Amino acid sequence: MTVPRNLLTDNPELYEARFPDPDRLAGRWAEECLRRHGAGPRVLDMGCGTGRDAAHLHGVGRTVTGADLSEAMLAHARVHHPGPEYVHADLHGFDVGRFDAVVCLDSALLYCHTNAQLDAFLTSCRRALSPGGLLVAEMRNGAYFLGRTDLLDTPTANSFTWQGTVHRSTTTLTVDRTAQLLRRTRVWTTDDGSEPVVQHSAWRLLFPQELWHLLAAHGFEVLELHDGPGPRTEPPWQDGDLPGDTADADRLHVVARLNSPA
Ligand SMILES: C[S@@+](CC[C@H](N)C(=O)[O-])C[C@H]1O[C@@H](n2cnc3c(N)ncnc32)[C@H](O)[C@@H]1O
Repeated sequence: MTVPRNLLTDNPELYEARFPDPDRLAGRWAEECLRRHGAGPRVLDMGCGTGRDAAHLHGVGRTVTGADLSEAMLAHARVHHPGPEYVHADLHGFDVGRFDAVVCLDSALLYCHTNAQLDAFLTSCRRALSPGGLLVAEMRNGAYFLGRTDLLDTPTANSFTWQGTVHRSTTTLTVDRTAQLLRRTRVWTTDDGSEPVVQHSAWRLLFPQELWHLLAAHGFEVLELHDGPGPRTEPPWQDGDLPGDTADADRLHVVARLNSPA
């Protein structure tokens, strides 16, 4: 499988510029989860993107492997966020070593669109983890869309200058209820006369109880499942903040322990 073409993930420098995390909030939050639950040192960052979270975990003393499907992301990570080993792997089925924890941040897990892909991801995590190993994930919350349409009502417009060219985007989100997917259509236009480019992405809409059930079916005990505080909540997580006990807002945070190894 190859990653669908996407201006942001095809250009990792641009991705980091558009979604800055100068204080490494996501990496620090993940490390805090790992520490709170006594994870061992070996960590796999699945869907590691630019490598900034993997490098943060490496920097605090962990032995980290970052894995992604995008060769552009992996090449960027090796140069700009050295320390971890970076490998090409697919969330939908991977075997890249043995670890004490798998982390999967910023909705990377939701690129598992179908139940079969989710099962394959969790089967791979189970094979990859040592007994008692942790899965730490942070993602959109499907339940947020029950009764709320604020993110769906109006297309959002954005613009930025990249390598001397002004890029404008119009983004429309729709809910595909049958597939349980949040679908995004983004139209890019530039002021250099090129044709508009239309890009499609989608994320699985996972609900808290569904996730709980899936994890249990794959041998995991859920230790935390909540809507924040986390690295992408408002207000964002700060050092020392404890996990909440609701799952209503737009981000989900999950920590689960593998109690029944494969
Ligand atoms: C939103 S980015 C998140 C990157 C990083 N985890 C972060 O928090 O900055 C999602 C990443 O998932 C990767 N990805 C998408 N589908 C994938 C798949 N099937 N297997 C592995 N990685 C995938 C993309 O290439 C991208 O780097």
